[in-house]
Amino acid sequence: MRILGIETSCDDTSSAVIEAQKEKIKSLSSIVSSQNKLHEIYGGIVPEVASRAHIETIIPAIKESLKRSKSSLKNIDLISVTRGPGLVGSLLIGINTVKTISFVNNLPIVCVNHLEGHIYANFVDQKERIEFPLIVLIVSGGHTMLVYMKDHLKYKILGQTKDDAAGEAFDKVARALGLGYPGGAIIEKISKEGDPEKFKFPKAEMESKIIRLESGYLKKLPPNLDFSFSGLKTAVINEVRKHKTKNKSFIADIVASFQKTSVDILVAKTIWAAERKKVKTVLISGGVAANAILRKELQKKCQIQGFNFFAPPKNLCTDNAAMIAAAGYFKYKNKGPDLLEKIKVNPNLKLGK
Ligand code: KG4
Ligand code: ZN
Repeated sequence: MRILGIETSCDDTSSAVIEAQKEKIKSLSSIVSSQNKLHEIYGGIVPEVASRAHIETIIPAIKESLKRSKSSLKNIDLISVTRGPGLVGSLLIGINTVKTISFVNNLPIVCVNHLEGHIYANFVDQKERIEFPLIVLIVSGGHTMLVYMKDHLKYKILGQTKDDAAGEAFDKVARALGLGYPGGAIIEKISKEGDPEKFKFPKAEMESKIIRLESGYLKKLPPNLDFSFSGLKTAVINEVRKHKTKNKSFIADIVASFQKTSVDILVAKTIWAAERKKVKTVLISGGVAANAILRKELQKKCQIQGFNFFAPPKNLCTDNAAMIAAAGYFKYKNKGPDLLEKIKVNPNLKLGK
């Protein structure tokens, strides 16, 4: 079946067309109209600016994705759209556009969770079969989460960030250094020139805990699977403030050390989760999954431990609509379409809802 995907949960207006059959998903087009330039001057996303930009770009993005996939609404079988989590104004533009297209063209709609979309980016243009059970690390600007999946659409959150998401920490460190927005890709680029061992930054939530049992014996508990990136971000910013001269090589060393610390934490916790749940497969997803060091380190550790490792192509790690169409396909196969009159956005939608 041919699916049109629409994603407007944050600051990218995305539309894509996929062709899906059994477990095979082929991406036919993926349009992402980035608003980075609009938000750059503010150093972060301004919700009102994002909603207005979505209004202007959503129809051209849909038209372009249909054109590039050599489709028209006549040969689209299903529309898949993000209904949360995200910015309420941004989500409403996507949902209301889809409702109108569906009503006029009599097309079924399936709503998906944005995080579910990130996970299913792994299934787009994937040649190998992804075996369950699996662990997926979702690591983006809004979320950092370890999820156990026994099967398609079955999610159990094992751990998540208690404060900043990893991508948010990349963005805030980049902003503190005046490097630009969004910070992840910029930090990755500058880190290539730096020494990742130069600065030692703290790694939170990595320690084992010792508890006293009722019997009086002490028991060592393994580290939990939650994350905390706020302390790391503050330590980096404090280190920057200590130095008067901030030349190129100092900045490169700082960001390379910050990137290494983040990657070490993400890789260690993902491997612990995979070991504890005795899975075969490890997936990574979300904007930070585009980071080459993170991909390389996690792949290396997975290989040593005997886990099959998958990562989406880099352009499908950051927000896009092909991943929303892919998640929508599995959801539709499992549960059918959503009723037009019951569809509502939910800015705080939880994974699995
Ligand atoms: O998934 P995404 O596009 O949006 C959210 O759902 O949040 O992720 C955006 C985040 C931003 O914080 C951005 O800095 C980060 O992903 N990011 C990266 C890289 N590319 C994007 N972080 C580290 N390395 C990268 N190459
Ligand atoms: Zn995202």
